[in-house]
Amino acid sequence: QGFDLTIRNGRIVTDDAIIEGDVGVRDGRIAAIGPGLAPGARDVDAAGRWVLPGGIDSHCHVEQLSGMGVMGADDFYSATVSAAFGGTTTIIPFAAQHRGTSVPDVVSDYAERARTKAVIDYGFHLILANPDEQTMTRDLPQAIRDGITSLKVYMTYDAMRLDDYQLLDVFELAREHGALVMVHAENNDIIKWLAKRLIERGHTAPKFHAVAHDPLAEAEATNRAIALARLVDTPILIVHVAGGSTVEVIRGAQSLGVHVLAESCPQYLFLTAEDMDRAGLEGAKFCCSPPARDAGSQEAVWQGFADGTLLTYSSDHAPYRFDETGKLPKGDKTTFKEMANGVPGLELRLPLLFSEGVLKGRMDIHQFVKLTASNHADLYGLSPRKGRIAIGADADLALWNPDRETRIAYDDLHDQVGYTPYEGRVIKGWPEVVVSRGRVVVEDGRLHAERGSGQYLRREAPQFAWPVRQPGAARRPDGLLSKAMAGAREG
Ligand code: URP
Ligand code: ZN
Ligand code: ZN
Ligand code: ZN
Repeated sequence: QGFDLTIRNGRIVTDDAIIEGDVGVRDGRIAAIGPGLAPGARDVDAAGRWVLPGGIDSHCHVEQLSGMGVMGADDFYSATVSAAFGGTTTIIPFAAQHRGTSVPDVVSDYAERARTKAVIDYGFHLILANPDEQTMTRDLPQAIRDGITSLKVYMTYDAMRLDDYQLLDVFELAREHGALVMVHAENNDIIKWLAKRLIERGHTAPKFHAVAHDPLAEAEATNRAIALARLVDTPILIVHVAGGSTVEVIRGAQSLGVHVLAESCPQYLFLTAEDMDRAGLEGAKFCCSPPARDAGSQEAVWQGFADGTLLTYSSDHAPYRFDETGKLPKGDKTTFKEMANGVPGLELRLPLLFSEGVLKGRMDIHQFVKLTASNHADLYGLSPRKGRIAIGADADLALWNPDRETRIAYDDLHDQVGYTPYEGRVIKGWPEVVVSRGRVVVEDGRLHAERGSGQYLRREAPQFAWPVRQPGAARRPDGLLSKAMAGAREG
């Protein structure tokens, strides 16, 4: 029987090979890979293009209330459209619990809003801010069983943070239920203490955000989170690693055999704290937590990706407009403490890394695929369905033209933020055709997907969520982490 769609004559990237040929798609899945496949009901020419798995963005904030109580500018429609245009076919945003809200209410609220709007597939992590009795004994275990197999906790932001005692409780619960805990690691007291002194001295401009969020606040909290995780023998994942000193802390723990995973983001490769040093409040457009740092930290993050210390590259898309609804709650009187934290990145995440990483020779195409798709699928329980070009996997594909040059302009993007921190940069390579479950969703610069056509992904247990020392931990696929890291080192 024929194919519904045949992608013709591309350079297809699988885990360990580059195949010049075709991808045959049937019923939304990859049915065949190789040269000279039969025609499909529809053929798409991929000559001169790389055929890569669609990206998975495992860290983005969509239609979500932030820790500071601000609603993001993108809903599930604009966020998923924007992601699709940038070559991403799966997102894992957060269903965010706040103090005083229950997990089932939060989950059904987010699920309902996403269901009617998303154009690509999505799962959820839970943000856990209210680890009360009911949450810990009943609701959280149930959410994990229902396919929300990872959760994020905060060590900073007064409204969100857990103390060390609560972190231990959460890590223990995750260990027992095979969930992966993502940790926002910054020392809350260091940041508050510095911020108070800066404000008292009149240092209120956006650039002082980076001074308050000292690299030591990040490195210390990371080290502490790792110690707590070691104590209860639970793997954790440190999100949005910004500082070179934090990369060192993580690498050191990994070299001792500790299962600590880590992620970084475009802002830590392509921005620095100096970007916040602009006239007026313009610098707020570059403000995120932790902040982008300096050239040395950028280099350390590149190195962390190259040697496997960092396993996932996500956007941490946190979309706040440059007005009273986001970055400037107090108008031109806004100090760095009140600006919403976060930068957009769903659409440009992959094009930036393809251009500056792959085409400039900093990483090969297999490494790019791991960092942008397959590692996310493995870490968050989406393998083998998502994240790879393989027979039987969902036909989530991006056809990259490596020669296309783009001058980044906000007007060409599809989010609702109103600006991009990468305005004016010239990059090479663009995902010109994007396929989600066999549907061509982006082509010729246009969207071909219906609102609500994305599917919810109930996720399996993350591959790396199981304890190391637990006797009889048969469900833990042994040595996978070290294999993944060795694979990254082999490059
Ligand atoms: O500045 C950031 N990253 N805002 C988003 C929330 C978070 O902590 O990831
Ligand atoms: Zn965070
Ligand atoms: Zn985030
Ligand atoms: Zn390679």
